[in-house]
Amino acid sequence: MRQFNEDNLTAAVVGRLKGTKDKRLREIMTAAVKHLHAFAREVQLTEEEWFEGIKFLTQVGQKCDDKRQEFILLSDVLGLSMMVVALNHKTAPGATEATVLGPFFAHGAKEYGYGADLREGATMKGEDVWVSGRVLSVDGKPVPNAVLDVWQAKADGIYDLQTGGEFELRGRVKANAKGEYAFKSYKPKFYSIPMDGPVGDMVKETGNHHMRPAHMHAIVSAPGYQQVITHVFVDGDPYLDGDAVFAVKNSLVGKYKKMSDAEAKKVGLPAGSVKLEWDFRLSPEAGVKARKKIAASDAIA
Ligand SMILES: [Fe+2]
Repeated sequence: MRQFNEDNLTAAVVGRLKGTKDKRLREIMTAAVKHLHAFAREVQLTEEEWFEGIKFLTQVGQKCDDKRQEFILLSDVLGLSMMVVALNHKTAPGATEATVLGPFFAHGAKEYGYGADLREGATMKGEDVWVSGRVLSVDGKPVPNAVLDVWQAKADGIYDLQTGGEFELRGRVKANAKGEYAFKSYKPKFYSIPMDGPVGDMVKETGNHHMRPAHMHAIVSAPGYQQVITHVFVDGDPYLDGDAVFAVKNSLVGKYKKMSDAEAKKVGLPAGSVKLEWDFRLSPEAGVKARKKIAASDAIA
């Protein structure tokens, strides 16, 4: 067949995908071609604009390295990451809701036990916090021996991975046999997404703000339960309603409270420290369309 035009081209391209052996790949490619062509038709894309798009995606790729993941950032600010989370996590009632992984997860963080101090080695001080709680099943029973991968930005809103130094404010915290966990860290602060790349330029060009409300990231895993990738946001943060990556859920907003001097002293923190009490609730793995667990191949660094 020849003589392709705007009316018959889409069907011709889709037709060439018919031999794709993997059915799911065929389905995805077919939909991608249909939507891409429909997009070009809808906006009557010019050649100059098409080339601008090619240049933009090239720059996004060139900005990526073993520590910087500009494509995940692009997916995040376009809401695609949250769309994929929403499509794949119809969380059981009462279970901790999932939200975006973000570009700053890293494997190989140090393992810690109950009461660990994640501030060790930190190059910047913040507001001392005691984070404690339990890992429970949706019916409220303690989940023994869960592991919490936690990470957050430094006090200046920059992640350790962005500056290429040692790991900071991240760790694999093991809960005990009763599902209890606790660690010391710094209270998270709001921050800007990385604005020094093509995604930042796009955010500026579209007049959007680039802030994320303060949060701690967590991946909670336990044998027999669905792994959850989530955040705990800080109640009262000015950006809760305008998260640049659309990740805020009401159920994930935690209250940080002042500790009494005696409470702080008991856990080895200075007077005036704050605390976050936060329980994670996991869905049983059986009968749930489980998310593929975070594997080594997902590592950003
Ligand atoms: Fe983050």
